[in-house]
Amino acid sequence: MSFEPKTTIEPFRIKSIEPVGMTTLEQRQAALKRVGLNLFQLRSEEILIDLLTDSGTGAMSASQWSAMMLGDESYAGSRSFFKFEARVKKITGFKYMLPTHQGRSAEHILFSTILTPGQIVPSNTHFDTTRANIEMQGVETCDFLISEGKNPMLDYPFKGNMDTEKLEALIEEKRDRIPIVMITVTNNAGGGQPVSMANIREVSRICHANDIPFFIDACRFAENAMFIKLREPGYADRTPLQIAQEMFSYADGCTMSAKKDGLSNIGGFLALNSEAWSERCRNKMITIEGFPTYGGLAGYDMEALAVGLEEVLDEHYLRYRLGTIEYLGMRILEAGIPIVRPTGGHAVFIDAGALLDHIPWHQYPGTALSAYLYEISGIRSGEMGSAVFAKKNADGTLTPAPYELMRLAIPRRMYTRSHLDYVAEAVIYAARHKREIRGVRFTYEAPVLRHFTARFEWID
Ligand code: F0G
Repeated sequence: MSFEPKTTIEPFRIKSIEPVGMTTLEQRQAALKRVGLNLFQLRSEEILIDLLTDSGTGAMSASQWSAMMLGDESYAGSRSFFKFEARVKKITGFKYMLPTHQGRSAEHILFSTILTPGQIVPSNTHFDTTRANIEMQGVETCDFLISEGKNPMLDYPFKGNMDTEKLEALIEEKRDRIPIVMITVTNNAGGGQPVSMANIREVSRICHANDIPFFIDACRFAENAMFIKLREPGYADRTPLQIAQEMFSYADGCTMSAKKDGLSNIGGFLALNSEAWSERCRNKMITIEGFPTYGGLAGYDMEALAVGLEEVLDEHYLRYRLGTIEYLGMRILEAGIPIVRPTGGHAVFIDAGALLDHIPWHQYPGTALSAYLYEISGIRSGEMGSAVFAKKNADGTLTPAPYELMRLAIPRRMYTRSHLDYVAEAVIYAARHKREIRGVRFTYEAPVLRHFTARFEWID
């Protein structure tokens, strides 16, 4: 007998529930008007299914909630810190770990400590907070994503890989200006696409041959490790923990938002091998985050993180996680709607630019689709196109993002398959009625990270 089910089931059952926002079409239309079509400005009770982000929004396990009761709130020398630190060291192997309240804080501490104006930090693709934290130091960023990663419809196993030829060319020309090289795993801005072990190894080799420290933006390291297990020859029999350990072994440090693969609602860390840098970062941290054994976190947060970082490497969980994203992506793709293929680790990215081919990039098709989807269904998604990623040039003009995407980010362990079926149905309805969707224009924008507070209106 061999029952081989095709259904990917949630490898857990539900113990505690939370209501979702049931609204009418009229209520959603009024809400959209109030917030200037910016879904960041909605109140959560106005949302039925919230796919704005997978960051800090997931469900914790009974083990995490019970571990929180053990939280040691000592200002200095907290027992909970040492548990958290031991877990991070076991996974990453880095010598020093500085806890922070979230990822961007780890980025800020690192970059404000080690960078000096005029330098350049290359990456496969910097996430927006990473880019902002680097550029705030008067330092340039550049993204060397492989060309396969820039073609949304192309099926390729590791679309997050860095273009190592471009990296080598930059090093050849401007070695003295490059303080570190970074790789984001998985590549969030490019569709949640994984980076292969071979690519991590090669980037590491190039960096070390030139004496340049190599850092990983590790937010979704466990999802990346599982993709390596499933797709890269030679890794099928390794555990996600072993794969993660190998990934980190090639690097000199990492920044981490533990709101993703820490399976927790808050938390992050900076981990690194350099004693000199860690000492300077620790001093900076004391002035902005807190004492080094809590760094912006409660003792109970560190307990939840220590457990979350263990649970996230469970193979059943990771199979379900990647399988769920694939399931939603396939339902949408089978209806003829263009998505970034293959599906990534934390989200389905719809190619709004291709779907809404009647809306040019400067009328923000991703924002328009996102607002329309909310209007018809109560689902909150997020734009990942030119409203977020366009680059402002010195002459005030904009260079558009490489593509106009709308992201359906799936919080971890939170929504059931029927929630996702509803999402697929709503997206398919939106695509069938795309002629009803108009472009949008900004009526307000802040000078940096404008998408959070922007206001838009429909173009007639
Ligand atoms: N790096 C990556 C790749 C991220 O995706 C994020 C956050 C950060 C760094 C910053 O971490 O939010 O804890 O300060 N991404 C969230 C998202 C916000 O929705 O993709 P943070």
